[in-house]
Amino acid sequence: MPSIDDLRPTLEAANQAHLLTFADQLSANERDSLLSQIAAIDLAKLPELIHEYVLNKPTFELPEGVDAAPYYPADPTESFKPYDAKKYHAAGQDLLRAGKIACFVVAGGQGSRLGYEGPKGCYPAGAVTKKPLFQIFAENILATAKKYGATVPWYIMTSPLNHDATVAFFNEHGHFGLDPADVMFFPQGTMPSFDMASGKILLTDRHQLATNPDGHGGSLTALHTSGALDDMARRGIEHFSYFQVDNATIRITDPLFLGLHAAAPDSSAEISSKMLPKAFPEERVGLFATAGGRTHVIEYSDMPIELQRETGADGRLRFLAGSPAIHVFGRAFVEKVNTDAGFDLPYHRAEKKIPHVDLATGERVSPDAPNGVKLERFVFDALPLAERSIILETSRVEDFAPIKNAEGTDSPASSAELQTQKAANWLEAAGVEIPKKSDGTPDCVLEISPLTALEPGDLKGADLPAKIEAGKRLAL
Ligand code: UTP
Repeated sequence: MPSIDDLRPTLEAANQAHLLTFADQLSANERDSLLSQIAAIDLAKLPELIHEYVLNKPTFELPEGVDAAPYYPADPTESFKPYDAKKYHAAGQDLLRAGKIACFVVAGGQGSRLGYEGPKGCYPAGAVTKKPLFQIFAENILATAKKYGATVPWYIMTSPLNHDATVAFFNEHGHFGLDPADVMFFPQGTMPSFDMASGKILLTDRHQLATNPDGHGGSLTALHTSGALDDMARRGIEHFSYFQVDNATIRITDPLFLGLHAAAPDSSAEISSKMLPKAFPEERVGLFATAGGRTHVIEYSDMPIELQRETGADGRLRFLAGSPAIHVFGRAFVEKVNTDAGFDLPYHRAEKKIPHVDLATGERVSPDAPNGVKLERFVFDALPLAERSIILETSRVEDFAPIKNAEGTDSPASSAELQTQKAANWLEAAGVEIPKKSDGTPDCVLEISPLTALEPGDLKGADLPAKIEAGKRLAL
């Protein structure tokens, strides 16, 4: 451990000597803790990082020759990109049967918009049962393992802030029936949080640096440093499904998506993505694009609005493909980018209200307006590293019912509506009569456990009611 005297000149050179303001007043343990937090930061790189991202707002330049990215349509008979869905579905099933597929959830976020105490995966999300998100995913994985007679390991990325609470939750619930040997937890990295005006790292306590998880893009490094990729290699895993912890209806192991990723001629089986057609031009969603022969996701705020409004000959938006953050990664690809020299995803800057200690008084301050900058990496910035990347269209009802906000769009209520609509579609296809409101939406609340059906066809032969009464709440 370096001493204070060792560190002071380096901190001064990086304009961060204020971190030692209270060092003389700390207990020996607190001082050691402060010094080890400082030692974990790459101080040499800090001044450039602060100049580029904290004191200045990086400008984004649209890549040259940007165009809309091609995608496999949900309907495989569409004339613009027809394909043999049966063949790729079977290829995905073969990979599942052979035990070559793992699941990976990024659960290190702070979930500040939802305002829920505790890891977001513990949120009671089931439309009827209120079962936690982690249980919904566990049931999905259990059902997949049973259906394909294979082990499907699950990797869960936490953050240092919620790691212990997440592991404790799984222990309390007996890992929801999964074999604990097949569920691996590891925390992601963190970044210091900065004062927006001065670029100085904030202190949340006299001996505690303000930090934030380093973004879902940090997962690609954390998979490597945690040993998760090695563990996958030992188990013979070739590809893993990547999903976010707040998506209650994600189809974690979709055979068609896995099959296209692994076997389509225009895929290098490195990173594949699902896309959702944008509902309207101004929708705030990252957009799939191509440039220089590579695939990119461009944030809505970086894409000129005229381009977002442009339509093609068919009258549909030219940049139609929005990203719901659903991917499949090739294990070897993630290993390769980690061992390649110079693998470094860019940072994204977010202005936040960050409670901190006033350096002059030592008092805690809770700001009313954003005072700090948080730097994060985003997973989709890895897309252009893939040689050939495919995109598959999905639908909001089938694959995307996120819980991000306490109310309104992407809230527990909208997620419950989407879960109900998905269950209603599946039940209707199986011949069950669904009560409808005047706007055509189901007049009931429904939830189908992945243990009952992973896909509509699994409902064949299930014990189903002929009809659902209006106003009923039913979990199958
Ligand atoms: P969000 O962008 O919704 O961020 O994360 P968040 O931190 O969960 O929520 P807010 O913005 O504070 O309300 C999308 C997904 O990426 C994960 C989240 O857990 C979620 O699954 N994530 C995000 C991480 O795993 N680590 C991070 O550092 C950030």
